[in-house]
Amino acid sequence: MKKPVVVVTRKLPEAIETRMMELFEARLNPRDRSYAGREIAKLAADADVLVPTVTDRIDAKVIAALPERLRLIANFGVGVNHIDLAAAAKRGIVVTNTPDVLTEDTADLTIALLLAVPRRLSEGERLLRTGKWVGWSPTFMMGSRVSGKRLGIIGMGRIGQAVAKRARAFNMSIHYHNRKRVHVAAESLLEATYWADLDQMLAHMDFISINCPYTPETRHLLNERRLKLLQPHACIVNTARGEIIDEAALTRALAAKKIGGAGLDVYEHEPKVAAALRKLPNAVLAPHLGSATREGRIAMGEKVIINIRAFTDGHKPPDRVLPRE
Ligand code: DGY
Repeated sequence: MKKPVVVVTRKLPEAIETRMMELFEARLNPRDRSYAGREIAKLAADADVLVPTVTDRIDAKVIAALPERLRLIANFGVGVNHIDLAAAAKRGIVVTNTPDVLTEDTADLTIALLLAVPRRLSEGERLLRTGKWVGWSPTFMMGSRVSGKRLGIIGMGRIGQAVAKRARAFNMSIHYHNRKRVHVAAESLLEATYWADLDQMLAHMDFISINCPYTPETRHLLNERRLKLLQPHACIVNTARGEIIDEAALTRALAAKKIGGAGLDVYEHEPKVAAALRKLPNAVLAPHLGSATREGRIAMGEKVIINIRAFTDGHKPPDRVLPRE
């Protein structure tokens, strides 16, 4: 039987590429060059399956240029905001993603940022590395405590709940805002308080963690007006998508010390991060590392393979993503 032609847009972990070469006629990207949309369509000219990632823009134009025989976009990653799902559905193209396997890693990184910001970890490390540390003193580089503080989670899905579980272990009180209230059993396990009104929640929190997907509705969910509702000591952590915060407004608020700090793993114009934000001492900035563990990335690749195999064998792929209503 002829193997399906699978075009992969970025370099994947070696074990995954090896397995893909065994199972499929895999067209890989060993130099890991990032392709523009029209190049992707060209590369996929004779493909059955496309495997993109968050760095690719698979918009309606790219989808229209894909060959008739291409029937599956098996995304490497859980977020699918870079794929026009409605355009894919219209063309009869199935889209899948890689949920679950990056939940724990992303929640870990969220907590790492949530601790690093109030404890001034990056600022302290920079000082030490530049040879300017003159030693311990009772009032040197005091930060603030997380224990006993209020954490407001925006988006109480898998990752939001994994963050809440960890934050409970740090003795934080859990609050959340979500499109829908989560099941009462999950709420009581996490001792979580639901806030139907996001504005109200923002005004009462010490920490905010963004864990919702990026959709047209969540673009600039934290806009200038909402940022102004935060308490002056409040810290924001974002490991979801940069576009959910108005980054320019956030930068202004941080620079003016209108809010306490921010721990960011994602940016509005990735990989570009404005110099004004990069300069701020009260921002801890990571380069989109949420799911970047060897174990996580291999598990994501395995999910991609399972989805492709299920689909090309004529079954329903386990991780199908449908356009939002
Ligand atoms: C995802 O899976 O959406 C991540 O942001 C990429 O690691």
